[in-house]
Amino acid sequence: MITLQNPLDMHIHLREGEILKSVLNFSAKYFSGALAMPNLKIPLNDTNKVLEYKKDIENTTKELNCEAFTPIMSMYLSESLNKDELIKAKKEGIKILKLYPKGATTGSENGVSEILNQKICDIFQIAQDLGFILSIHGESNGFSMDREFEFGEIFEKIAINFPKLKIIMEHLSDRRSIDLLKYDNIFATITLHHITMSLDDVLGSGLNPHYFCKPILKTPKDRDALINLALSGSEKISFGSDSAPHLESNKLKQNGAAGIFSAPILLPRLCEIFEKNNRLENLQKFISDNAKKIYGLQNIPNKTITLTKEKYKVQDSILVGNDKIIPLLAGEVLSWKIKDTRN
Ligand code: NCD
Ligand code: ZN
Repeated sequence: MITLQNPLDMHIHLREGEILKSVLNFSAKYFSGALAMPNLKIPLNDTNKVLEYKKDIENTTKELNCEAFTPIMSMYLSESLNKDELIKAKKEGIKILKLYPKGATTGSENGVSEILNQKICDIFQIAQDLGFILSIHGESNGFSMDREFEFGEIFEKIAINFPKLKIIMEHLSDRRSIDLLKYDNIFATITLHHITMSLDDVLGSGLNPHYFCKPILKTPKDRDALINLALSGSEKISFGSDSAPHLESNKLKQNGAAGIFSAPILLPRLCEIFEKNNRLENLQKFISDNAKKIYGLQNIPNKTITLTKEKYKVQDSILVGNDKIIPLLAGEVLSWKIKDTRN
């Protein structure tokens, strides 16, 4: 048995509309809070849009009877952001800016095409002055297995030029990125899928579109280096699932939409992995304590989750209207199960 205090998921796609209603309970029931990504169909690129979305999430948690859940909001960084808007956002309690390189992933059409241009550097300067956290999807437009590595030099330049700006490398996938954590102001999130799977799970036997995501799963060596980092409880690392639901029809038809839906299995699967590696004692840091320090989240209401070693079968799919979403490890049996949730 293990008890976790205030689990936090620092990178999640909750989507909007019908999908939001179908997926939010997996996070809101078992996590104290989650950092909601702003890459909606209409990107959340100003304060009002972020606040409206926050209300949508809160109303949905009420409908689902899981109110003890704090949505942590982020704003989509685009060239049109200016100082007044950033001051307004800060006043409203938004402290995370999310930068997507244009075209890098799902919902990045309105992202930034030239990251180190003057306009964007001016935004970084204001963000640093106002104490924002800059969260980055770090991928170039090069060869898919090298995209994160190639982006490394941009991380370095931002870290050096804006030493007081906290920078988060989202969803680490390449072992060569780990070195960048030597910068005092660079931190990272790590997903469940990048520490448990490799490219073979996407295309090693049949092609599995449900395990296709950005950044793409990499080599077993990358996976192993990243799992060791997560297991170590390093204070530079928060858990961020990057759970990214897509309707099956979009996975199969729209050139295979990128994103893995992991929300239904996160805590049991992490227990399984930390136990298997004899590091259960570090799970609390990975799942909550580190994030609280990095993001300054001291006022999250209490939630205690107890898990036991009991078999638990992952559902085959989650229905959304006439369509469905296939979760990570659909139909498989896990050896840990959530037993109890207390607020
Ligand atoms: C995410 C999505 O679907 O919104 N997709 C993904 O493959 N991870 C976007 C992202 O975080 O890259
Ligand atoms: Zn994401």
